[in-house]
Amino acid sequence: MKILVTGAAGFIGANFVYYELAKHPEDGIVGLDSLTYAGNLETLEGAAKDGRFRFAKADITDRAAVGRLFSEERFDVVVNFAAESHVDRSIEDPSVFLLTNIIGTQILMDAAKKYGVGRYHQVSTDEVYGDLPLDRPELLFTETTPIKTSSPYSASKASADLLVQAYQRTYGFPATISRCSNNYGPYQFPEKLIPLMIKNALADIPLPVYGEGLNVRDWLYVEDHCKAIDMILREGGAGEVYNIGGHNEMANIDIVKLILKYLGKPESLITFVTDRKGHDLRYAIDPAKITGALGWMPETRFADGLKQTIDWYLANKPWWENIVSGEYTRYYEKMYGNR
Ligand code: NAD
Ligand code: TYD
Repeated sequence: MKILVTGAAGFIGANFVYYELAKHPEDGIVGLDSLTYAGNLETLEGAAKDGRFRFAKADITDRAAVGRLFSEERFDVVVNFAAESHVDRSIEDPSVFLLTNIIGTQILMDAAKKYGVGRYHQVSTDEVYGDLPLDRPELLFTETTPIKTSSPYSASKASADLLVQAYQRTYGFPATISRCSNNYGPYQFPEKLIPLMIKNALADIPLPVYGEGLNVRDWLYVEDHCKAIDMILREGGAGEVYNIGGHNEMANIDIVKLILKYLGKPESLITFVTDRKGHDLRYAIDPAKITGALGWMPETRFADGLKQTIDWYLANKPWWENIVSGEYTRYYEKMYGNR
């Protein structure tokens, strides 16, 4: 199978590339990425050494470039991870979120349709369902929970989902959608909660917790997300939506305290800051459908996954220090500037 992975230089896309290369020796992968601030070619250095992988620098909103790639490669499967992914940035400036997350999805689907791709998978998010109250723990998001978004980010992801479903219904486009809860693990950009807190704790600078830190997220180790997508590509039914989550709800403040404890840093580093605008209270996934239909189960317990993640950031300081210092831009110029 030849697979196009968009957003391959980002957090989950890169983890997915490594997961597929290890799991399916018979497959070839093209990793596409426009290398926004969130994309990092260093993350793909290991994959680039594998003859079954090739990197293509392209923007999914560039119809001509996407069309060229599809005509060259003849993909069997497309997995779309490429997106603007950070809620706080979407609050500051929604425009690029609408462009990449909605129009980019349309352009990819048009190319997949034109070139007869057998399966298109849209990587979506549980944030399309809005939020749940903190005092009703029995409520969970199912695939039939109404779409009701809170942030420009989630609105753009929900719009893309609706477009994917419209293509499926109108053109018989062979698409699946997955809606996963918050991921954590290696290669996550240090603007997201867990890596940001690890980075700040290591530097002994304040850990900024929004509001009172009581908002709840349902955390899943990134490899478990990759496994679910792999199963959906191979065994999922066209037209289906699958929720992905591991029944692992945690309040933000508790995660921050766990990180401090593991690193041996004092809780006095915690600083409560002004809350995020429109801050979703709680996300919680009911994964019964994917478990029942495909047999998917998460494998990594949160306590283990968090330790592995912290250890990874400790062992890979240059990876995130480069990003933080802007070194990455120079890296790209050095590697590709004269080609
Ligand atoms: P990320 O921000 O780490 O990576 C996104 C990647 O997409 C980056 O490499 C970036 O360069 C690339 N990209 C952005 N705009 C592009 C464009 N126009 N053309 C080509 N490439 C472009 O994000 P992530 O956390 O890896 O998320 C991947 C996908 O998973 C997203 O669609 C996101 O909505 C979804 N998701 C993320 C989470 C999570 O917890 N991180 C949870 C559920 C779903
Ligand atoms: P984030 O990692 O941005 O993911 P999302 O908003 O998509 O769930 O944030 C996770 C939670 O952590 C969310 O409730 C906001 C909170 N948060 C903080 O309290 N401080 C921070 O500096 C960040 C980045 C997030």
